Formats: sequence, C-alpha cells, structure tokens
Amino acid sequence: MSLLHVSSSPRGAASESLAIAEAFLVSYRETHPVMEVDTFDLWDGSLPAFGPEAAHAKMAVFAGKIPTDAQASAWQAAQRTFRRFDAADQYLFSVPMWNTGVPYVLKQFIDVVSQPGMVFGFDPKHGYAGLLTGKKAAVVYTGAVWGADRGAAFGVDHQQPFFDDWLRWAGISDITTIRFQPNLATADADTGRRIALAHARDAGKTF
Ligand SMILES: Cc1cc2nc3c(=O)[nH]c(=O)nc-3n(C[C@H](O)[C@H](O)[C@H](O)COP(=O)(O)O)c2cc1C
Repeated sequence: MSLLHVSSSPRGAASESLAIAEAFLVSYRETHPVMEVDTFDLWDGSLPAFGPEAAHAKMAVFAGKIPTDAQASAWQAAQRTFRRFDAADQYLFSVPMWNTGVPYVLKQFIDVVSQPGMVFGFDPKHGYAGLLTGKKAAVVYTGAVWGADRGAAFGVDHQQPFFDDWLRWAGISDITTIRFQPNLATADADTGRRIALAHARDAGKTF
C-alpha cells in the first residue's frame, strides 16, 4: 500500500502548498507507518510531453489500432507515467492557483495519464467511466488573490472545479480538500496559514 504525493509547485522552500503537504505527510507517516510514501515532482523533468505523436497515438488507440514508430514511443512514455501513478493506492496533490487555473505541468500530467484503458473506459452509448475506483485523494489548494468572498475582480476559480472534476471523472470520489487562499494584498496570512497547517495535520492523521 502506498501514497503518492503529486507536487505541482516549482517554488521549493517558498511554496505554501508544499509546506502544507509536508504537514499532512508528517502526521500521515505517524498514523500510517506501513504505507510507503513517494513524491512525483512534476517539475523534475521526468514528465513526458504530450505532443503530436502522442495525440496521434491516443486517437489510434481510441480507434482500436496499435500505434507504431514515434507514436509507439510517445504512447509507451504515457503508459510508463500512468503505471507510476496507478501504482499508488492513495494520493496527495499540491495544487497552486496559476492564472485562475492550475499550473500547466499539472494539466500536462492530466493529458499524459488520461488515456483509454488507463484512467477511463469509454462506451459509445454510456460515455466515460473512471477506472481509478477504490482510491482516495487529498488536495492542497493554494492561491494569493482569488477568494470565494472577493468578487469577480479577484478572478474566478478554475482551479478546484477543474481538478476535482478530473478526479471524479477518473473515478476518485473520496476527496479531502485543504485550502490556503489568503488575499495577500490585505489579509493576515499567518492566521490562515496556521489554520491550513493544522487542518493538514488533522487530515493526514485520519486519512
Ligand atoms: C504564475 C503564477 C500565477 C498565479 N496566478 C494566480 C491567480 O490567478 N490567482 C491567485 O489567487 N493566485 C495566483 N498566484 C499566486 C499563487 O497561487 C500563490 O502564490 C500560491 O501560494 C502558490 O502556491 P505555492 O506557494 O505552493 O507555489 C499565481 C502565482 C504564480 C507563480
């Protein structure tokens, strides 16, 4: 049994989402000593691109064909990434808000692993069916401007609705949410940070 932390902030020691994820993991390790914990840093250079060859390969597979040549290599890279992801039973995602959505590496990760027969099945009559059933996820959402109570001038939230929907589409409906989204221009970020860290510690303990 294992948990995979999929990390999408490139900000290292300055990252709020990584600090909150670490608080989750410290208490998680205490209460889940048998669980292996691995981190997939989406910025470490190992995430493959999903460009022309991969897109052709995906559509070939959808049409019941087997990708060949460069398309086969691109498809194998996607399969390898998916296998690493799918090997985990539980997930922790750290997800900063970038331009009202998620960092592009996280969308890239989603585009790489969201393949027929991997993340989803497809039936022409009934549509998609998520295949990652029986797993659960905790998601740390951070931001510094947007807030539910702040009005349209502070942006809109394409972060949590997008990412939670992807998890559900993939078959993961057990989702624990941890947020730290101060308005850095005005708010007392310390109080919100303390609350988010405490929430993460509790969530890690009982996950
Ligand atoms: C490229 C970029 C775009 C950002 N866009 C937004 C945004 O649209 N809305 C917002 O509330 N915060 C935005 N922020 C602020 C980050 O969400 C905030 O600093 C958050 O703490 C980032 O997570 P991290 O500390 O884990 O890297 C942006 C930051 C960066 C670097």
